[in-house]
Amino acid sequence: MNAQAPIPLILDCDPGHDDVFAIWLAAGHPAIDLRAITTVGGNGRLAHTTYNARVVTSLAGITDVPISPGAPGPLVRALSPAERIHGANALGGPELPPPDVAADPRPAIELIRDTVDAADDVTIVATGPLTNIAMFARIYPDRMSKIREIVWMGGSTARGNVTPYAEFNSWCDPEAASIVLGSGPPFTMIGLNVTHQALVTQEVIAGIGAIGNKTAAFGVELLDFFNSTYETDQGMPEAPLHDPIAVALVAEAATVTTVRARLDIELHGTETAGATSVDLIGKLMREPNANVATGMDVERFWRLVEDAIRTLA
Ligand code: RIB
Ligand code: CA
Repeated sequence: MNAQAPIPLILDCDPGHDDVFAIWLAAGHPAIDLRAITTVGGNGRLAHTTYNARVVTSLAGITDVPISPGAPGPLVRALSPAERIHGANALGGPELPPPDVAADPRPAIELIRDTVDAADDVTIVATGPLTNIAMFARIYPDRMSKIREIVWMGGSTARGNVTPYAEFNSWCDPEAASIVLGSGPPFTMIGLNVTHQALVTQEVIAGIGAIGNKTAAFGVELLDFFNSTYETDQGMPEAPLHDPIAVALVAEAATVTTVRARLDIELHGTETAGATSVDLIGKLMREPNANVATGMDVERFWRLVEDAIRTLA
């Protein structure tokens, strides 16, 4: 646990089943001060990811965090939602209770701007395509010096999940990922090579279900759906809960192990577009430019998730 003051944090996401647990962990962990949520087209269309963010914050009693919609799709490429995993509304499974909170009237890049201006510095966690953060970096470059760190759930040091070589968040908008990687703040990538260690087992589901509040019960329904679609689409009966691991690293750094490495995003490959090329041994003799996750403390991670949900409605 960090002894310092709570870390001001902006969460940019595309809820999305695992994004929901990133929201809940960011709202429920005492080391994090969740200042803003921005949404992006990715797992689903922007209208869905934004509505879903409003639903899962309202349901959890998180009513004081502004939520702003951002880019409907990638900078260059067409949006290709992950409906096979997340469903047609990007949050398949449970019935969605109508949200109490409205979306903030500002677009995402203005909410990010105002949140950055109101703080000494801000950490950004991104759990979807990096389109919003790339647009912010392009439109407000002078504010990038106030970003303490950008932590991204994306990429992989190994195989992909959308193509053999590309992970979804990177594949969706590789141009945005490349822009953000070179935008100045320290950049940390948490890829599939690590997130696939955080599998939603029946024991995990039982542990969350035993919490006994409304948020936990809704979360169990989400996990049941996520496991079912992951088995169908990825041949994995226990889904990896990717996104909250990026928040866990900010909340308690010891949860995730990282190394300095050279990271490049493939933009042009016919078969490899969106691949994250990670040079872990300096073979390319290029300057290391990212912190890349290589391991995690799975038990500690699930404890963080449960403890955070326990603080919610
Ligand atoms: O590849 C996993 C990532 O893609 C996660 O962020 C999941 O929510 C999807 O967006
Ligand atoms: Ca996501």
